[in-house]
Amino acid sequence: MISLTDLVKSFYGRTGQRGTVRAVDNISLVVPGGSLVTLLGPSGCGKTTTLRCIAGLERPDGGEISIGGQTVFSSRRSMNVPPHKRRIGMVFQSYAIWPHMTVYENVAYALEGSKLSSRESKEKVGKALALVGLSKLESQPAPHLSGGEQQRVAVARALVSEPDVLLFDEPLSNLDAKLRETMRRELRRLQKSLGITALYVTHDQTEALAISDLIAVMNNGKIVEIGEPSDVYNRPRSKFVAEFIGQTNILVGRPLNSRGPGEFASAETALGVIFYRVPDDGRVSVQEVLLCIRPEDLEISVARPEQEENAWRGKIIAMSFLGPYQDCELEAGETVLRAHIRREMSIKVGDEVCIKVDPSRCIPLVSD
Ligand SMILES: Nc1ncnc2c1ncn2[C@@H]1O[C@H](COP(=O)(O)OP(=O)(O)O)[C@@H](O)[C@H]1O
Ligand SMILES: [Mg+2]
Repeated sequence: MISLTDLVKSFYGRTGQRGTVRAVDNISLVVPGGSLVTLLGPSGCGKTTTLRCIAGLERPDGGEISIGGQTVFSSRRSMNVPPHKRRIGMVFQSYAIWPHMTVYENVAYALEGSKLSSRESKEKVGKALALVGLSKLESQPAPHLSGGEQQRVAVARALVSEPDVLLFDEPLSNLDAKLRETMRRELRRLQKSLGITALYVTHDQTEALAISDLIAVMNNGKIVEIGEPSDVYNRPRSKFVAEFIGQTNILVGRPLNSRGPGEFASAETALGVIFYRVPDDGRVSVQEVLLCIRPEDLEISVARPEQEENAWRGKIIAMSFLGPYQDCELEAGETVLRAHIRREMSIKVGDEVCIKVDPSRCIPLVSD
């Protein structure tokens, strides 16, 4: 388990920036034992700094960090355990592989100073290399490896000292799309089979959805939302999260009534009256409601719908064929909507269509 409580880290006066940057702004987070939690957010939101604080490479200004039940940093108790005593393994985006060493030597390097006998250390390196499928390449010089193989060396090196937790900082960002997908499946399989606790950093929403038990979405040094991948995608709470993960239509509405959790309420929007389901946590706004509708939840048809509720006429203004689906832009009155439609549906720019949405797919957001 990794636990962060009220973690704060500011930087002062970097060239080109004025004043103070609150890179980590009061973060509290629990990474349950054996799970993989992802910090997801745009560049500069404080992901790397959070990870470096956990690793002991950055000294926080305040808060507490514990790893596996042991406090490694506490501002209140003036505790700061040095990095090499924190029992963590870390994998970076730049693989940080030594070019003048072989695969074996690169991994063994992480055990230097550990007082293991040469037989023990050989055994551990062999085991780590086997875990990442590199046993056959152990005597290869590092520069002879492909990008994916170098990343595996970096993972083996992080695992070799049998750490309590693994920290990953955008480990796949330098690989091409295809390899990134293969590697993320491999990393996930490895993490699960070892049952190791992992904190994973990425700015790539698809990667976060695919690899995580929990996603913590960050913005401006804060965690704005945390949940299972399907929750943050299907039921985002804030506009920032709705827009950062996946694509979304946002409609601004004036609530016409107030209803309890799970009930249907309605609001007046530029499209007309729209019905939506009040979430189970009962969040409601009185003045203004923002409704998030995913492009794949808009149903497009040529025929007129039977019911008039949550249904509008519109016109296709742009289309692109994306393989699994067609991405289209529609105009309904003054409103432009984006919809994903079946790839075999034959429809073209200029066509008049009917747009429908299920009220339970209209998600009211809380303002940021
Ligand atoms: N060593 C540093 N000195 C000054 N500012 C820094 C330093 N490291 C990071 N920052 C600033 O802190 C903020 C968060 O950075 P970082 O944690 O690297 O974000 P991310 O990994 O999410 O892209 C940014 O504004 C960045 O410029
Ligand atoms: Mg970073």
